[in-house]
Amino acid sequence: MPNLEIHQFPCLSDNYGVLIRDASQGVVASIDAPDAKAVAAALKEKGWKLTHILTTHHHHDHTDGNLALKAETKCTIIGPRAEAARVPGIDRQVGEGDTFRFGDHEVRVFDTPGHTAGHITYWLPADGVAFAGDTLFAIGCGRVIEGNAQMMWQSLKKLMVLPKETLVYCGHEYTQANARFALTIEPENAALQTRAKEVAELRAAGKPTLPTTIGIELETNPFLRPHVAAIQQRLGMMGKPDWQIFGEIRERKNRS
Ligand SMILES: [Fe+2]
Repeated sequence: MPNLEIHQFPCLSDNYGVLIRDASQGVVASIDAPDAKAVAAALKEKGWKLTHILTTHHHHDHTDGNLALKAETKCTIIGPRAEAARVPGIDRQVGEGDTFRFGDHEVRVFDTPGHTAGHITYWLPADGVAFAGDTLFAIGCGRVIEGNAQMMWQSLKKLMVLPKETLVYCGHEYTQANARFALTIEPENAALQTRAKEVAELRAAGKPTLPTTIGIELETNPFLRPHVAAIQQRLGMMGKPDWQIFGEIRERKNRS
């Protein structure tokens, strides 16, 4: 199977755009379309022709570019069935358990609701890559806007069991602020301390902190660590269900 080429670029204030290409089959997808001009510029820079948009959720900073890009390229827009009415230009609706081909690459779809009610994640198992939108961030997770803590926790659990080396691309560069918050939840986590320093250095150099991996997130992301005794103790929630502890961490982040 030919390699999947991946190009990530910053756009809007703190979003990432991502392009993927299977050169052998002549297909190029934009993971979400935060901004048509920025996506078009990235395509031009790479010399790639857009054939698909894979939408993770309906928020404007993920779909605002859909119609302009579709008008220009006639690309096919794939997006979440559960919020299809809110995804401009959607051609094909997908949800939990669906698979489709992107060139020679298999794409599997998970429902990962919580940030929005119909949010989906795209996983390319043979390539070891996942596109998590605003569900999972590096050292963080998306705000629970349309769902509840239990729902979001169930969504994160689906990502936590992916192979540890899975590269995870996310919708936003929030990592440095996330690291600062994470250290208030688990200050004794040595892996987190080390990573917070690495993240600060990357950002100071103007470099992205993404993609991350499932393995790194399991070690450093407090939202994925409600089972850790030191965290439960700090929150005064010893032995409480994971989703409740997750919910408390999310509440604290909202207030931070
Ligand atoms: Fe969002």
